[in-house]
Amino acid sequence: MSDRSGIFAGDDPFAIARAWLAEAENSEINDHNAIALSTVDADGLPNARMVLLKEIEAAAFVFYTNYESAKARELDSAGKAAFVMHWKSLRRQIRVRGHVSKEEGPQADAYYKSRSLKSRLGAWASRQSRPLSSRTALMAEVAKITALKGTNPDRPPFWGGYRIDPVEIEFWADGDFRLHDRFVWRRQLGQQEWVVERLNP
Ligand SMILES: Cc1cc2nc3c(=O)[nH]c(=O)nc-3n(C[C@H](O)[C@H](O)[C@H](O)COP(=O)(O)O)c2cc1C
Repeated sequence: MSDRSGIFAGDDPFAIARAWLAEAENSEINDHNAIALSTVDADGLPNARMVLLKEIEAAAFVFYTNYESAKARELDSAGKAAFVMHWKSLRRQIRVRGHVSKEEGPQADAYYKSRSLKSRLGAWASRQSRPLSSRTALMAEVAKITALKGTNPDRPPFWGGYRIDPVEIEFWADGDFRLHDRFVWRRQLGQQEWVVERLNP
């Protein structure tokens, strides 16, 4: 077993991730929950973009997006993704690799409802990742949707969550002279037990 202590201590990597995220909420100037989400396209060409991590569940990470976006296409065809979150203020990162599935049930409805009305209407108006002729065209779409959907729009069928079930989670913290601390937690898909290893920086 590795010599984990302090910020790395504990038997549940999701609890450690939650604790680090809570610390970052107090130290980051904004978007402490931003993650760089990485996917691969049909040619194996990697892709990355920021999204907001909305939930750390008992055993998974959840974010929300448009199901017709480029990332959704890549997530749906590969069934796998990775992300990294980096906090400059804490000098720490968490890396996650895993299998993805959609969250398009009551949980997605509840999250959609929790968003501001303008964001809810924006989700309807944006054909995310597809060409747009002008900003004016987008605002016209928003006006059209606002008139159509009113003040209590349903969650669009093309918008919802993705859940990442990790097989690997790495916790990294800055150390003096680039001698950083790294602990990687690995397990097989569907297994409960993690194997934890300290890695060279
Ligand atoms: C800090 C930050 C947070 C973002 N959060 C989200 C998000 O939660 N969901 C989302 O769909 N796009 C989010 N975006 C926009 C994405 O980075 C991206 O532009 C968009 O999802 C389209 O990506 P795609 O064409 O690869 O699908 C965010 C961008 C930034 C910079």
